[in-house]
Amino acid sequence: GGAGREHALVGKIAQSPRVKEIFCAPGNAGIASLARCVSIGAEDVRGLVEFARREKIDLTVVGPEAPLALGIVDEFSAAGLAIFGPSARAAAIEGSKVFAKQLMAKYGIPTAGFAVFDDPAAARRYISEKGAPIVVKADGLAAGKGAVVCRTVEEALSAVEEIMVKGVFGEAGRRVVVEEFLEGEEASVLAFTDGETVIPMLPAQDHKQVYDGDRGPNTGGMGAYAPAPVCTPEVMRAVEEQILRPTVRAMAREGRPYRGVLYAGLMITPQGPKVLEFNARFGDPEAQPLLMLMASDLVEVMEAVLGGRLAETQVRWHEGAAVCVVLASGGYPGPYRKGFPISGLEEAASRHPGVVVFHAGTALAEGRVVTAGGRVLGVTAHAESIEAAIAGAYAAVGEISFEGMHYRRDIGQKALQRKK
Ligand code: AMP
Ligand code: GLY
Repeated sequence: GGAGREHALVGKIAQSPRVKEIFCAPGNAGIASLARCVSIGAEDVRGLVEFARREKIDLTVVGPEAPLALGIVDEFSAAGLAIFGPSARAAAIEGSKVFAKQLMAKYGIPTAGFAVFDDPAAARRYISEKGAPIVVKADGLAAGKGAVVCRTVEEALSAVEEIMVKGVFGEAGRRVVVEEFLEGEEASVLAFTDGETVIPMLPAQDHKQVYDGDRGPNTGGMGAYAPAPVCTPEVMRAVEEQILRPTVRAMAREGRPYRGVLYAGLMITPQGPKVLEFNARFGDPEAQPLLMLMASDLVEVMEAVLGGRLAETQVRWHEGAAVCVVLASGGYPGPYRKGFPISGLEEAASRHPGVVVFHAGTALAEGRVVTAGGRVLGVTAHAESIEAAIAGAYAAVGEISFEGMHYRRDIGQKALQRKK
């Protein structure tokens, strides 16, 4: 991959004494300072297998979801190459919302009530019957844009029109899940699993909407922090016992043993945590604060996952909190222009202790770092408290500029509210 998540992964992997050399396909301008970037697309599975064979790569780590769904783990395994991530059959937990919902229904894993449709007329009838608010989701991968939270029945009917009739997500929208709207605060709980043992990471919180106060359209994520106090020890116990462990057990029972990182996107409702979605990989931006907080050697943990030895492994975390503020291109999550020079990158890191500027959509052009994507940078700070981490991240943000740059000013505020 080549986003903020992959920069954070490469940075953490580089700290391992077990690592001699890192390659990243395709990488970005920030990753290029830690790894040798190779211009193979993350979805070019055959090209990646050939590269890994030729270079005798000892361990491959998959960042994004698309190659997992394409079966990169199966292909590498068949070629005798070690790779961290779930097989295609296991990654279906992210790749098909219908599969994930039916799995949860079958095994009693808490989630919103739902129905599945491949006929738009039937979906419309169901929506009119249920009323709003209601949520319409494309079955397949849609780059984080496949879920539409509808305040009115009209909005839901037009979502059905867009997804099922006009086919804005192509094949991914041939089937839809229509589900109950859940009230509460969201959290992301990621876990390492070797298919049996489950070790949750610190709870994190993403900020999906583009504007302050959770307004505006959904994005890939405008910022994240960890640990998230909405996940009290009691909530974390419920997440582990009612969601993560039963899901990993269910996948094994279904003949889809799950190895890698399992990401539960949750709504913490008054009735307890419920699953909004599963992802088959690290979240982005969640990976940025989480990996900064991780004290253990990530490579050792990944090797334990691959060797089925997670039960003998401990995952340790640093004290304090970490906050990531995403700097986005003007227009994102809609259309945006690229190629604007970025200034202040050196100052942001050198003048602010505990801050790392992870690159997402960046590229090198004539020796300068320029914008090359919607989410451009993840300015991430680790400090002794959430207050200090927020202050550190925004102080560093103040050093950076590029044409059209925008970001949320309220990353981490929900954690502060809870302390009051
Ligand atoms: P998903 O891709 O399924 O995680 O959905 C994207 C976003 O839509 C979530 O992060 C929530 O903000 C919102 N969302 C999804 N499902 C629901 C639901 N059942 N109730 C309320 N909000 C939801
Ligand atoms: N931050 C949400 C995701 O990675 O899907």
